[in-house]
Amino acid sequence: MASFYLWLMCLCWMIVLGHGILEAEASHRVYRNLASLQPASPSQTYRTSYHFQPPKNWMNDPNGPTVYKGLYHLFYQYNPLGPDWGNIVWAHSTSKDLINWNPHKAAIFPSQKGDVNGCWSGSTTMLRGENPAILYTGIDPKNQQVQNLAVPRNLSDPYLIEWVKSPYNPLMTPTPENKINSSSFRDPTTAWLGPDGRWRVIVGNKLNRRGKALLYRSKDFVRWTKAQHPLYSIQGTGMWECPDFYPVSSSPIGLDTSTIGEGVKHVLKVSLDDTKHDQYAIGTYVHSKDVFVPNAGAAEKFSGLRYDYGKFYASKTFYDSLKKRRILWGWINESLSREDYIAQGWSGVQAIPRLIWLDKSGKQLVQWPISEIETLRQKKVGYPLTLLKSGSTLEVQGIKAAQADVDVSFQVASQLEQADALDPSWTDPQLLCSQKGASVRGGTGPFGLKVLASKDLQEYTAVFFRIFKARNKYVVLMCSDQSRSSLNEKPDKTTYGAFLDVDPLHEELSLRSLIDHSIVESFGGKGKACITSRVYPTKALGNEARLYVFNYGKANVAISSMNAWTMKNASINRKN
Ligand code: FRU
Repeated sequence: MASFYLWLMCLCWMIVLGHGILEAEASHRVYRNLASLQPASPSQTYRTSYHFQPPKNWMNDPNGPTVYKGLYHLFYQYNPLGPDWGNIVWAHSTSKDLINWNPHKAAIFPSQKGDVNGCWSGSTTMLRGENPAILYTGIDPKNQQVQNLAVPRNLSDPYLIEWVKSPYNPLMTPTPENKINSSSFRDPTTAWLGPDGRWRVIVGNKLNRRGKALLYRSKDFVRWTKAQHPLYSIQGTGMWECPDFYPVSSSPIGLDTSTIGEGVKHVLKVSLDDTKHDQYAIGTYVHSKDVFVPNAGAAEKFSGLRYDYGKFYASKTFYDSLKKRRILWGWINESLSREDYIAQGWSGVQAIPRLIWLDKSGKQLVQWPISEIETLRQKKVGYPLTLLKSGSTLEVQGIKAAQADVDVSFQVASQLEQADALDPSWTDPQLLCSQKGASVRGGTGPFGLKVLASKDLQEYTAVFFRIFKARNKYVVLMCSDQSRSSLNEKPDKTTYGAFLDVDPLHEELSLRSLIDHSIVESFGGKGKACITSRVYPTKALGNEARLYVFNYGKANVAISSMNAWTMKNASINRKN
């Protein structure tokens, strides 16, 4: 009898593994029956009007962004068969302005032994003579992660439609000798060229709990040798997905990825699989030793610096040689349950491309939506200096609030004596924002915006500031409170928060929010802290959505300037 039950258990287990879930790592589980499932009635309720999306199905990481012969290219992780993760190819679109996009056929799809089970994330490098080359992760017949190369078939085609894979693929493989775990070896970066004429690239990895940026070198971009030591690694951080490594200077003028020299600092960004956060450190690239040395204090767990304190993952930058700037792309995933995004028929949006550079302080990066987004601005409403009295809420009328760009600045310098004291144990901004949401009255704050709000204010997403008095300075907290973003109970409504390095005694507090139906991307302190929220209003939809400025603090606050625009639809991946 016992053996019968054992047999039955094994059978059930085989059924689960064989026909339901194809085991990879927890984050790459393919639900075979779901990965190719199309819903009966897809829903467009939460589609965006000017964010990058494919017409349907699943999308995750931005891949290999670049500019070639005057055209911008974006590739992305895509499931051509359904709205859940699986069957992954590199989908491809091009644009003249990074705002309006034309779709093309998939650029890279399983066709070789080295990628028969999927074409995962990677990057584009411009080889000498401006020839693009893509390094990407392939999943081989044994489900091992290996690194492959693809180059354009026809360099005179600015659309780069056809890609040819190297016959030498795979170029980098996990082996017992190199002690690389075959399920944690992926996402090659854009390569950089050293003064010795050799290319370098890093690949994300972990060994036990140690996250690593493995370094490889090559003279010809085909034969790669693993360096003895990683570029950088940190114990206890788990898998480093989608690493990015690039030079910055404290001016919005960007630097080519191979730039080294006086006054240049380097950024190492990793996407932490454990927390799904994109964290970064600023430091020095010691090229004679091929190591990254973070600034003092920046090393441990990346000292908490994040590109975005909301939903923003697997990001990637590229150097835009056309406009001499570095641009950041990032993936905003759904806050819906798997069941609900499958029913919707699509999943995932890309954030608006952001300019990224080093802050004057040298301590953090600054981000700002690329100026091209302003070409979508239509009707504008502007407010002169306005007093926002304690407890007041002001509706911003005259624009389409579901599809808007708002830029507001507050002056609080004269009201700071009312700020509440900061308890030294309050070191976690996200926790602080969730405990002190938009409806918790404070001394100075909460004040800010209520976006995607219903007329009766039953629904809204509040993006706001709160100011605290610490021992010898004021501390600004920026929050995005989603707790009332939808009357639907099911979506994840985690409140997000960040500390903002602005001195409210001497500076205005600015807040810009890009609102797009179900996305709110907010930039505090002229881009010193960014928070992206994914929300699903049930009443504040389309023309029913409203926009308010509010001040629920005890102190009055002045709006020194406020402009808001209706945003036009961008033309994104529409078939001709
Ligand atoms: C990040 C990631 C990458 C991987 C890809 C697979 O979201 O897990 O590490 O290459 O997605 O789609």
